[in-house]
Amino acid sequence: MRIPFGNPKIGKVARDRLEKAIAKSWASEGENVREFEKLFSEKFGYKHAIAVSSGTDADIVANTALYDLGAKRGDEIITPALAFVATANSILAAGFMPKFVDIRVDTLNLDPAKIEAAITGKTRAIQVVHTMGKPCDMDSILAIARARKLTVIEDACEAHGATYKGRVVGTLGAMGAFSFFAAHLVYSGEGGMVVTNDDRLAEICRSVKSHGRPAGSNYFDFQRMGYNSKMNDLEAALGIEGTLAFDDTFNRRKAHLVTLLALTKDLRPFAHFLVEEEHEKISPHAFSLVLKDEKHGRDALYAFLESKEIQCKTLFGCLPTQHKAFEWMGHRSGEFPAAEFVGRNGLHFGVHQGLSSEDIDYVSDQLHAYFKRVK
Ligand SMILES: Cc1ncc(COP(=O)(O)O)c(C=O)c1O
Repeated sequence: MRIPFGNPKIGKVARDRLEKAIAKSWASEGENVREFEKLFSEKFGYKHAIAVSSGTDADIVANTALYDLGAKRGDEIITPALAFVATANSILAAGFMPKFVDIRVDTLNLDPAKIEAAITGKTRAIQVVHTMGKPCDMDSILAIARARKLTVIEDACEAHGATYKGRVVGTLGAMGAFSFFAAHLVYSGEGGMVVTNDDRLAEICRSVKSHGRPAGSNYFDFQRMGYNSKMNDLEAALGIEGTLAFDDTFNRRKAHLVTLLALTKDLRPFAHFLVEEEHEKISPHAFSLVLKDEKHGRDALYAFLESKEIQCKTLFGCLPTQHKAFEWMGHRSGEFPAAEFVGRNGLHFGVHQGLSSEDIDYVSDQLHAYFKRVK
């Protein structure tokens, strides 16, 4: 592939850290994990950062912390109908029910206007997802959460460094979750982070990710539901390097994203592209588009781009109605029109730091070539 989705690299800083861990024969949670947590929290201004084994586990740990806030098994968590599948799976894994709410086609994020109708007596939290690095409409969502006494969890797995009204995402709500998988802005092999500014929630999350042991207790003291969601020191070695290189990664990706958005301005009659609004800074996770008219053929565009060596992914699909995994919940096609439309008509591909400006010109040329054919 000329334009692969991601560009993971393991450089000298990570290698030195790996060597140190190997010299100590210590590959489990240790010095590198502590350093990664410190760097990550300082870099983005979070009071606490708790390293875990994946973005999925970050979501599971944050959701499980809700029991300490009074949630009961089987309670409901509001979550977007369209997102990467870990968002809904993590709610189920923590023992709750996902309550799917439709998204907006233009933002790819939860539609705040549809949240109220989904709230029941069992709703405990809203798990927002800043899809493709674009922050959700947090003022509206936080206002609903405050009025209905709901906790807000931010899945920021695709939104490292994004800001909303000058504040970095992750701690606009009570807890935030990040992923460090291959295509993300920080890479650690596998890995994730829970962030919070709340001392008590930080202690709960530290306990949940280590079998429910309370901090400083003896090894076999289990106070709450927990898992082994710990990150290891080998992964943290990579995460440290990625955090130190963050600004460079962010700026390179952002330049590609902004350039490609400008180069494709004339294609706006054909597709929705993400728009960065005044109040926000979008994190350049990837380049997404949603065809406006089904007749322009998302699958054909996907196949065309792949034939030109541009690695594509769809835009996840509507979890409750377009994926077999959630059939058991009994949702019917048509319940989530925006998510279903994006599921049929959306795709995304990489605009990562390993690409050159010629690569971005090449992608723009291929998009133009496709739309010229279908016009
Ligand atoms: C929105 C979202 N949540 C959760 C995850 C899960 O992260 P991981 O693959 O590290 O488990 C991802 C992964 O890409 C994601 O995009």
